[in-house]
This record gives sequence, C-alpha cells and structure tokens, in this order.
Amino acid sequence: MSLSRRSFVRSIGLGGAGLSTALVIGRGREAMAFQGGMVQPLQPPDDGLIHIDSNENARGPGKSSLDALHRAISPRVGRGYPPDYVRDLTTTIAQHYGVDPGAVIIGTGSGPILEGGARAFCSATKPLVTASPSYAQPEGAARRVGASIKAIPVDRDLKLDLNAMAEAAKGAGMVFFCNPNNPTATAHPFSAVEQFVRRVKKESPDTAILVDEAYIDYTYDPNVKTAVPLAKELPGVFVARTFSKAHGMAGLRLGYAVGQPETVRAVSQAWSLGSMNTLTAAAGITSFLDTAHMEEERKENARVRDFTLQAFRKMGYEASDCHTNCVFVNIGRPAKEFRDACRKLGVAVGRDFPPMEKTHTRISLGTMDEMRKAVEVFEKVLGKATNL
Ligand SMILES: Cc1ncc(COP(=O)(O)O)c(C=O)c1O
Repeated sequence: MSLSRRSFVRSIGLGGAGLSTALVIGRGREAMAFQGGMVQPLQPPDDGLIHIDSNENARGPGKSSLDALHRAISPRVGRGYPPDYVRDLTTTIAQHYGVDPGAVIIGTGSGPILEGGARAFCSATKPLVTASPSYAQPEGAARRVGASIKAIPVDRDLKLDLNAMAEAAKGAGMVFFCNPNNPTATAHPFSAVEQFVRRVKKESPDTAILVDEAYIDYTYDPNVKTAVPLAKELPGVFVARTFSKAHGMAGLRLGYAVGQPETVRAVSQAWSLGSMNTLTAAAGITSFLDTAHMEEERKENARVRDFTLQAFRKMGYEASDCHTNCVFVNIGRPAKEFRDACRKLGVAVGRDFPPMEKTHTRISLGTMDEMRKAVEVFEKVLGKATNL
C-alpha cells in the first residue's frame, strides 16, 4: 500500500489508530484538498493545532446518522441508478415543509445553491445586495457573472441593516440575507425577516431574495424562525439550508433549498448542484428526522458558547449576540496579530473579516475540551482589556 493510500485509509478510521469517522465527516471541504488523486486533509486535526478557524462541527453527526451511514455501506452502492435514496431525501424534506418535491432542490452542500442563486438572478445590470461582513460566496458568484455588489455595513449591534438593504434592493438582481449571519453570529426574528421580504417584494418585485439559514438550528431565540413560509408564498424568495453545521456532516456535502418550483428550478438550471451519493442521502434523511439529536447538539453548542463568551467577558472583551457555532469578538486589535499569536501557542482561529479585521476576530466553537484549552491561550495572548 502506498504511503498516501495508507494515510487516507487511516484517516477514515479503517487502519487502526486513525481519526474517528465522526470527526472526519464533521470537518468540511474548507480543510480538504485533492493531492495526487487521494483526498488528504490539508490541516489534519492531528497537526497539533486546535482548529477553531472554520465553522465546522467538531462533534460530527449523531449516532443514528452514523449508523445509517454504516448500514448504507453495502453491495447496494453498486446500484446508484436510479438514486432512490436521493428521491427519499427530497420527499422527506418536502413533507416536512408541506410542499411538493418540485419545491425542493438538493445540492452537494448549500454552496452550489448560493452560487446558482447569484448566477440565476444577478447580471451586469442586476447587482447583488449583501451585508458587510457576511458569507462571501454569493458575492464571489455575482462578481463572476459581472454583477456589481452593494455591500451594506452591519449596524452597531453587528446585525444586518435591513432598512439600508431594502433601499439598496430596488432594481437589484438578488438580496443575500444570511440569518443568522456568518461571521457576526447575529440573527433577526421572523417578524423582521417578513417585514423586509414583503417590503422588497413590493418595492422591487423582480428582485430575488435568498435567505441563508445555515446556522438557524443553533439559535436560542424562539422568535428566530425559518423563512420557508415566505418562500412558499412569494415568487423569487428561497431559503437555503445546510447539513454542514448542526447536522455535523460538512464532509458528506449536503444542502438544500426550498422555494416555489419556478424559483428553485431557475437556481438549479443556472449552476450544477452536484450529484448526491446514496450514503450521504441515507445519513441526511436520518439526521433530518432525528430531532432529539438536534436538540442535544443545540444545547451542547450553547454550553460551549456560554463558556467561551463568559471567558471573554471576564477579560473585558465583548462579543455580538450569538446564534451560531462561532463567536465574533471585539478584541480591540488586528485579527491577524491575535491569530498569529494564538497559532504559535497551538490554536488556529478565523481569518480576517473585512471591514472589521482591525478590531474583531471570529472564533468557531469546538468541543468543550478544545475551548477550555483555547481559552487559556486567549488569556495569555490578550490579557485584561485596557483600551475598550
Ligand atoms: C452562511 C453559510 N452559508 C453556506 C455555507 C456553505 O456550506 P456548505 O456548502 O458546506 O453547505 C456556509 C459555510 O461555511 C456558511 O457559513
């Protein structure tokens, strides 16, 4: 067995002392790359660093999903056509939201859906409206089709400035509304989302609205709810969700969108959403239905979040309101300076998020164990706040 093959086999937990399967699945494509035809972790979690630099799920999928995955590994994978698991996944999601299967599109992650949305609705004459900072993929996709970008700064509470975004939406191709928002971690209640969506649809009926709910399973606020009812009712409105965050399946690549059939069809015709495999679909269906696990995951994330925020507060640093698996903290100094110092002490934290890279850092939430160790490093690097 070649070296690269041996290390791959070890990394998926088949070759003895490797990483656990759950851990590998919970880590996403941000940390993976192809090298010499084999998938190799670029930053394997055993590189000695605690990786809290991308918003992955350090715990991986729930037990029921892992069991489903193991069950699905059988000679039956030789029969990929027709992809009946994929059909079952679409039907399961459609039934949950009370829509026809034609109102649901499935992607290998929600990334391709975001790309398809910007490509379907933006153009050289139809700008993208987004927040700054926010998740950057729709912005990149819009640029790739020659669209201009109207990036509206977040407000003082680091929430999206919905008033200014609605103004900017007049004549725009698409609005990207990340709720909760990455990296700021803030969220808007359903009432505010509804008011915004109805206003944009009234003032600029042809403007599409993509509500990205990648992190919504982590919210603690019962008023923060899915915008799917609006997507069902209004043409050009669609909601994207991913299994990469609370479902812990970033490495399996699964996301979906819900909207009126004509809206989501336009997205899937604009960009390839990938080809779902039966293993991912089997784990996805199980995870989607395992609401008890989702509740446990939400609680554990909240426990880790509270511990982390409390540690920063004790040192005198404030973070924005947090509805995600990352915290966005005002450290009163350049993120790079903090990041480089933490890395030397074994902790990898998030990249720069312009225009706030001179004051704020994004820290993804790992396991409680990882965060205990990381907080000791943060204390060493930051010390007590004196200038905030
Ligand atoms: C807000 C948001 N949307 C979408 C994605 C894309 O995730 P994926 O393609 O893994 O579903 C991410 C990934 O970090 C994200 O933060």
